Amino acid sequence: MECCGGNKLTEKQEKYYAPLQKILARYEKKERYLIPVLQEAQEEYGYLPEEILTNIASSLDLSLSQVYGVVTFYTQFHQEPRGKNIVRVCMGTACHVRGGDKVLTAIKDELGIESGETTKDLNFTLETVACIGACGLAPVIMINDSTHGRLTPEKVPEILSEFK
Ligand code: FES
Repeated sequence: MECCGGNKLTEKQEKYYAPLQKILARYEKKERYLIPVLQEAQEEYGYLPEEILTNIASSLDLSLSQVYGVVTFYTQFHQEPRGKNIVRVCMGTACHVRGGDKVLTAIKDELGIESGETTKDLNFTLETVACIGACGLAPVIMINDSTHGRLTPEKVPEILSEFK
């Protein structure tokens, strides 16, 4: 297999790109398939590093800046590795007035990261979100698909420890 200007790939690189080649093989070389290709690539690799985006751009006959334009426009796409567990802290009004910011501070302290960051061991990514529709349980966080409500800063270490 060749890539990126005709350079021959090492065996390790071939292995790395093989899942991407499989994804690309399922789509015609058309710009309208960029989003589904990006979605599948992200599912496969966990995020979209530059070398993957470069490969996608050349495979779909697009410029790298076109691909970056799409990746940076949609929040669903990530260019940095994400944690195994995604912690989303609600910053909606109901959660805010019931101490959501204190819960957020406790989580930041516990994980040693800011919102938008991932822990070094790639176990947690911390994000803030607008109302997640469980205002009756405010303040609320979500860890992956599960909702944790009526939180206090004191409860944070115990909840997070379940995911360590
Ligand atoms: S404001 Fe937090 S769940 Fe609605």
